Amino acid sequence: MPSAPTSAPVAVVGAGYVGLATAVSLAHMGHQVVCADHDRAKLAKLEAGEPTIVEDGMAELLREGLANGRLRFVGSSTEAVRRAELVFLCLPTPPRADGSADVSILQEVAEQIAPHLERGAIIANKSTVPVGSTRVIEQLLGRSDVAVVSNPEFLREGQAISDCLHPDRVVVGADDAKAAARVGALFAATGAPLIVTDAATAETIKYASNAFLATRLSFVNAVATLSEAVGADVRDVLLGMGYDHRIGFEFLRPGPGWGGSCFPKDTSALLFMAEQAGYDFPLLRAAVATNDAQRASVVAKVSSALGGSLAGRTVAAWGITFKAGTDDRRESPAVAVVRQLAGEGAVVRAYDPTVRGPVPELVGLAEVCADPYGACAGAEVVVILTEWDELRWLDYAKVRSVMAEPALVDARNLLDPAKLRRLGFRYTGIGRP
Ligand code: UGA
Repeated sequence: MPSAPTSAPVAVVGAGYVGLATAVSLAHMGHQVVCADHDRAKLAKLEAGEPTIVEDGMAELLREGLANGRLRFVGSSTEAVRRAELVFLCLPTPPRADGSADVSILQEVAEQIAPHLERGAIIANKSTVPVGSTRVIEQLLGRSDVAVVSNPEFLREGQAISDCLHPDRVVVGADDAKAAARVGALFAATGAPLIVTDAATAETIKYASNAFLATRLSFVNAVATLSEAVGADVRDVLLGMGYDHRIGFEFLRPGPGWGGSCFPKDTSALLFMAEQAGYDFPLLRAAVATNDAQRASVVAKVSSALGGSLAGRTVAAWGITFKAGTDDRRESPAVAVVRQLAGEGAVVRAYDPTVRGPVPELVGLAEVCADPYGACAGAEVVVILTEWDELRWLDYAKVRSVMAEPALVDARNLLDPAKLRRLGFRYTGIGRP
């Protein structure tokens, strides 16, 4: 990839999903990068070239950056920002009980780094923050010589590296046109369209994008429910819709509902912000309610496959992560479904290719098995909750032989119902006969 290397190092504060992917990608583009995180155990692993998250290409880029000296990890944010011309803030903004985003970590770090920033440094905030936060950071820094810009991140887990190296767009929100241009130039090598706007607009772009995608998925899941009610096959309905180029095929897969570390938190935060601003946002409220109902409908399908009662019944659950291609279980619909199944008295045996040993949030609720066949031993129904590709290629005759009853609920429409039925399974998908 062509690069426009900076002379001064770029600092990345926070080595979580966004921070680490940003740091290794910028180093790969040819920049000198110093990445800070206060978690010593995490730093030790990263310094040894061991990725702390499951991501395609992460190990290679991490080791490449360490080997060629362009990537360095440090334990303190103040150390990272010394000499840096550009500082990316990639810090968590977890949800508060009222749904609003908690920006206290960001505020704390801003105060800590303020006296250590170089004259004329640019702070680019990548954390998803309530509209207006860029201004708040500016005030907290209290440095008239330092520019603060909003630079929201749109990477997906599982594709974090490729999304960083080849983003669909780069958004920079700032009052200071020079600072905006400088941040935009850092990503010029990606060839992505650059949108330069004010900070509040950049912050809104991020929330509106996630809320739109979540709403789209809730619509798709609602169409699946409708398809079941009217006897249509949602797969063909969506195929017929997707060819309309205004609709397209991306993000059109029905499932057990959307989850992860972003959509649930960002939709809540946007609803909170809208309410504060005097707008109820009924469309987004409905999208969230539809998502809650989707999880419950998967539990109902499992129950109905068992004749209407879950108490004392053995259920195999395949998939624990919130989607395939990641080991992340935050706000996972799979975890929510397993918890609900166990809450209604089912004995749950779970399997996920990224999970070994007990899962803290499922302790006492589900036994985690080492392989998919083991999870099915003695089960009266198996439910697919995460779209892991390996589940497509299992020996389903063997699955049937180890199960007490051959019932399968496919909450990701991953399998071929005709094939499963030929093997003697009672198959239930989402929105399809
Ligand atoms: C999401 C956005 O896609 C990113 O653009 C954004 O940067 C990120 O949040 C963030 O704010 O940091 P991510 O959380 O990695 O990325 O997950 P997605 O791939 O968007 O999936 C979200 C949920 O939707 C998952 O539960 C997934 O299983 C579900 N989904 C997705 C479906 O049920 N059907 C689909 O067709 C696509």
